Amino acid sequence: MSDSIRDLIFGRPLFDVVEPRRTFQDVILPPSTLDAIRQALALIRKQSLIFDRWGLAERHGGTAGLALHFAGPPGTGKTIAAEAIAATLGRKLLVVRYAELESRWVGQTSKHVASVFRDAAKSDAVLFFDEADAIASRRFTSLSHGYEREANATVNVLLNEVERFPGVVIFATNLAANLDPAFERRIRTHIRFDLPGLEERQKIWRAQLHATKTPLASDVSFQELAERYPRSGGDIKNAVLKAAQLATFEPGPDPEKRIHQRHFVQGMEEVMAAQSVMSQSLYEARDAAALPTPRERQLLLIAGSALLVAIAALLTAILT
Ligand SMILES: Nc1ncnc2c1ncn2[C@@H]1O[C@H](COP(=O)(O)OP(=O)(O)OP(=O)(O)O)[C@@H](O)[C@H]1O
Ligand SMILES: [Mg+2]
Repeated sequence: MSDSIRDLIFGRPLFDVVEPRRTFQDVILPPSTLDAIRQALALIRKQSLIFDRWGLAERHGGTAGLALHFAGPPGTGKTIAAEAIAATLGRKLLVVRYAELESRWVGQTSKHVASVFRDAAKSDAVLFFDEADAIASRRFTSLSHGYEREANATVNVLLNEVERFPGVVIFATNLAANLDPAFERRIRTHIRFDLPGLEERQKIWRAQLHATKTPLASDVSFQELAERYPRSGGDIKNAVLKAAQLATFEPGPDPEKRIHQRHFVQGMEEVMAAQSVMSQSLYEARDAAALPTPRERQLLLIAGSALLVAIAALLTAILT
């Protein structure tokens, strides 16, 4: 059965099943972050000792599950670290699809959340709420709209499921403060992902290339690139892909083409320029939104003129 026919009959799946390919060899993090992850992993392995054999699950009514929270700016390796955790544990990664999770039918989103946790427990997979800021955000205090009640109900169900989940669940957010404070108690391990330091940046540049197949020119210096550009791993990845594309435009036969330092420099400059265009267009869009459009100006003119005519008519009626 094709995917589209299956989707039509059974609905779209609520998650993607990822067979993890990345390991901690591919994730370059400062020692303090790696230590925190290592500790969390050790805890996962010792969960059954602590909760089952030492009986703490019975004492605390809890389960042998573990919830982690990765918080940090975009492109700092949160998603690939979740994949590497699944790889290290030899488990699959279930990545929740919010577009399918959120339903316009009342109560359906909460049911979807519960069903995702059920499936992850059944298949002993690591459950991953990537970019969880939206779904696990603070609950609304005023409940004047239906969607506010629905969002609050979803967070409540999510909190309950996290508490009862026997496996490993990871939440990734850009801003820890976005998470509903009630998660703080349920998620005992919070790990901060910071922008990479100089040493990590050098390694990330290198890690984006194939160790033997990528043809590099002799002028390439990752140290210089790392010093010159204090950027995230995500930016470095994009710069490397741009550099490779630029190198293909060099004259000469393909086997002789090399990626030069100037390609990496241009790649990163383009990444940075694209980001400044994005922020500029957002700014302009916001400014433009505050100003009336030509159509709105036309309507304002008509309404103004109508008002003047009405006032003139009123005055004429009073004075005559
Ligand atoms: N610490 C890192 N080590 C190695 N590569 C990295 C690192 N951080 C980012 N990258 C590269 O950048 C890409 C994007 O990283 P990733 O998706 O993990 O970031 P993220 O923190 O999840 O970002 P977002 O908050 O936008 O989801 C990765 O596929 C990888 O190539
Ligand atoms: Mg991510």
